[in-house]
This record gives sequence, C-alpha cells and structure tokens, in this order.
Amino acid sequence: MKILPLTQRPAWKALTVHHKKIAGKHLRELFAKDPKRGEKFTASAAGLFLDYSKNRVTAETIKLLVKLAEESGLKARIEAMFTGEKINITENRAVLHVALRAPKGAKILVDGKNVVPEVHAVLDEMAKFADRVRSGAWKGHTGKRIKNVINIGIGGSDLGPVMAYEALKHYSQRDMTFRFVSNVDGIDFVEATQDLNPAETLFIVSSKTFTTLETMTNAGSARDWLLAGLGGNKKAVAKHFVAVSTNAEKVSAFGIDTANMFGFWDWVGGRYSMDSAIGLSTMLAVGPENFRQLLDGFHQMDKHFRTAPFEKNLPVLMGLLSVWYNDFFDAQTVAVLPYEQYLKRFPAYLQQLTMESNGKHVTLDGTKVNYNTGPIYWGEPGTNGQHSFYQLIHQGTRLIPCDFIAFAKALTPLGRHHDILIANILAQTEALAFGKTPAQVKAEGTPARLVPHRVFEGNRPTNTLLADKLTPETLGKLVALYEHNVFTQGAIWHIDSFDQWGVELGKALAQAIIPELESKTPPKLKHDSSTNALIKRYRKMKA
Ligand code: F6P
Repeated sequence: MKILPLTQRPAWKALTVHHKKIAGKHLRELFAKDPKRGEKFTASAAGLFLDYSKNRVTAETIKLLVKLAEESGLKARIEAMFTGEKINITENRAVLHVALRAPKGAKILVDGKNVVPEVHAVLDEMAKFADRVRSGAWKGHTGKRIKNVINIGIGGSDLGPVMAYEALKHYSQRDMTFRFVSNVDGIDFVEATQDLNPAETLFIVSSKTFTTLETMTNAGSARDWLLAGLGGNKKAVAKHFVAVSTNAEKVSAFGIDTANMFGFWDWVGGRYSMDSAIGLSTMLAVGPENFRQLLDGFHQMDKHFRTAPFEKNLPVLMGLLSVWYNDFFDAQTVAVLPYEQYLKRFPAYLQQLTMESNGKHVTLDGTKVNYNTGPIYWGEPGTNGQHSFYQLIHQGTRLIPCDFIAFAKALTPLGRHHDILIANILAQTEALAFGKTPAQVKAEGTPARLVPHRVFEGNRPTNTLLADKLTPETLGKLVALYEHNVFTQGAIWHIDSFDQWGVELGKALAQAIIPELESKTPPKLKHDSSTNALIKRYRKMKA
C-alpha cells in the first residue's frame, strides 16, 4: 500500500478542517449535548478500562483519526512488527519485543528462524538462577548467602528494571535488598554500596552492547569494590557477577564467566527490553512465577493491539489522541499521572520509551518532517503533583493532555486512604474538563477583582485509565499499552521509532573530551571557544 506524506493524506486534510470546528467547542458543551458521552467514549481490553470522554473530540474526530491510521498503513505495520520484518530500517533489524512474551508454542521467524524457543530457554535459565539466589542455594565467594542485588545499567538497561522493581515491591522478597546503579557520577555507586557487605552482594551488569561508558565504568568500580572487600581473589568475580547482554565476547573480556550470562537479541531495543533477560533483577525480586504473570499481561495487550478494531483498540486510541493534540492543537507535552505510589518511576520509564522512540526529525525515507513528532512525556504520582505543577495544567497558558492512572483496590488498604486517593483523581479530571466559569466564581461571593484569578477555563483534555489492582500481570498490560501507543504514533508520523541516532554525537564528543580533562599536561584544544574555555577552567578548578 502506498503511503502518502502525512499532510497529503485525505484524513489529515479532513482533520485540519475538522479541527477548526472542534477547537472552539468546550467539553461542557460536548457533555451537555450527549448525556451518554461518559459511557460512550470508553474502551476496555484485558482488564484495563479507558475513559477518553474528557477529550476534545466528537464521534467524527474519532472516525477521522481512525481513517488516518488506516491511510498511514498502521495495520500492515503492526503485522510487519509481529511477523519479524526488519521495520527498524536504519539499523536493519526486526523489532520483536512481542516475541519476548509470546507463549511457548508460538512461532515468530527472524531470518527464517523461530526465535520463541530461544526466548523460553533464556527464561528457564533465568528462573533456575533466580530460584537458587532467592533460596540461598547460590553462595557468594566466602560461602555466604546473597542478600543484596545491584543492577548496573543505564537507559533501557536500568529504567525498566527500576520501574518494575518499584512497581512490584509489594510482591518482592523482602529479606533481600535491590539497588540500581546507572549514573557515571560516582556518588550513585558509592551510595548504593556504602552499607553493603561485598560477601553478600551480587552484581548484574546489564548492557545490551556491553560497551556503554557509564555501565562499564560502574562495573569496573564494582569489581574493584568487591575484590577489595574480599581479599583480592579474582575467582570471587564468578560468584558475585552475572551479565545480561547480547555481546558474549565483551562479557568474557570483562571477566564474567559466560555460563553466568543471560542473553538477548539485537531485535530487542533497549527501551523495549524490561521483559527480556534485562528483567533479571525483577525476576530475582518477585520470583519466576510473578515474572511469568508479567509476561502474560504484556502478551494479552499484544493480542488486543494486533486484533482489535482501531476504534476499540486502547493503544491505537491513545496514540491517535496524542497525535491529535500534538499536531492539531500544538500541545507540546503529555503528562502521565499515576495515582499509585508504587508507579512512582513509571513516568521516568516512559520518558525513554516515548522520547527516544519518537523524538525524530525525518521520515523513514529520510525526508525532513513538516509536522511535529514526539511530544515530551513527563509526570509524577498523584496526589503529590497536585501540590506542585497542577496549577499550570489548570490555569496556565499551555494545553497539557494528561493520562490519569488508577486502581480500584489498594494492595495494602489503610483506613480511608484509598477512597481519598481516588476521590482526588476523579476531582482532578472533572475540574480540568469543566472548570469554573466567572458566573460560578461570582456566585460564590468572590470580590470582583479576584474573579479572573479564580476562574478555571476547563476544556483541559484527560484520559482516565482504571484497572482492578496493580499486579505483575497488570503492569505488563500497562507497559505494553504504552509501547503500542508509541508504535501507533510513530506509524502515523512515518518515522523509525526504533533507532536512537540522536544519542551518538554527545557520546563521541565525551570520549574525545575525557583525555583532555585527564591529561597531565595542558592539552591542545580544538573545540569552539566556549568549550575550550570551560575545559581550561575545569582543569584549573580541579587542580
Ligand atoms: O544511550 C542510549 C542507549 O543506547 C539506549 O538506547 C539504551 O537503552 C542505553 O543506551 C543502554 O545501552 P546498553 O544496554 O547497550 O548499555
């Protein structure tokens, strides 16, 4: 199917005209017109319920957005992903995170080879290892049981594991300590290890490439710390280090026995890897059975994404709504606001997933885009954010579409807390949609001069996602929902959501600057005058 450039697609043109009609309409009006709106503009899948009625859309908008998805070849692109086509064209790679959670009997071919058996073989190895560590059968070099696990990784080799550990803490083995070191700022490592006994500590070095500067620097310091604490016998490394990587050669060069390496494949992108062996720390924390539940949740959402009609398809609807605000309302950001303290790292996780995927300025064929691509994703858990940045969402001059996330049941109920929490999420979406008119403010007896300050314009769009309770399975569904939401956006924008060339330049420049900072004699500097002067100043200040 020939895909026209985005702005030439008939649905895009129709949406441009349609937007002019909708932009002036208030949600108050849309709700008043249709008393069933709050029930109609909803969809559910795999136990996740989405209320998108408080968006600035009509049935016509959804029809046109769905048409846009069709004209963008979304269906074919979904199939291309699920069948292992090399849709990451700039790296000539398949994009198969969906294979990581495919059931045992499934068949997904990459270059003619079914990858599912390998996926399950690694999962089985991980489970065996996790059981040994959790039960105390795996001993450290001095014969002590492993009590502490430190994942060393960055980006996709850190954000998913940290997020999942925090999200699933309720299910974790509480007599073990889990920490995550990512930053090359030495403080990250120092703080993570300062109260730990090396004899009881296991490091998981997680790096797809096993070349990432931060991770290799931290792994080196971890090895030094361990050997210093255990009398310098290099044999200790085998009992205290395992690796998760696609690069066996580099793992072995580092000194980790490849028997203690858990592999994955180049068709798993870093930011899509928390359900691969990169999730080893998650499995150690919550156990193999819970990890399998997590994978099952992912898979349920995968099936929904692949098969449900677009107008009932949660990730497709959410992706299309993001495109709607990003490209037609010129919204710059999307806020993700989980009303669930365990999801406190979810927005940080989503930042990489969304922005490394869709922060692109050219289409698949290299043409510069003439429309906005990936919005900025950000957020914090509620209700904390309400006492911080919500002011701007309610009364600022920018339009910030928000995803509110809540669960019907608290994992550890405590008095009235959960009802109060949920009352707040409902109150926020209500306030954002309907606001408060000058007449309402006046009727409350507000002095005239204060009326403008106390008016809430409303008409601020929100999605509400509701699920029963936060389980490993639900977490899998939620993450897959956002993965496929990102996929949908990328398909509309016709960009490669799976490469990340934008991170390379800074990495290369840092490699050139490191020796200039470390050299004993003044280096010959060939940067711009600002960078040269800053290097000189830093060298002088640190002396
Ligand atoms: O810097 C970007 C990046 O390549 C991410 O895409 C990736 O998740 C991260 O670095 C870590 O890479 P690795 O797992 O190879 O250490």
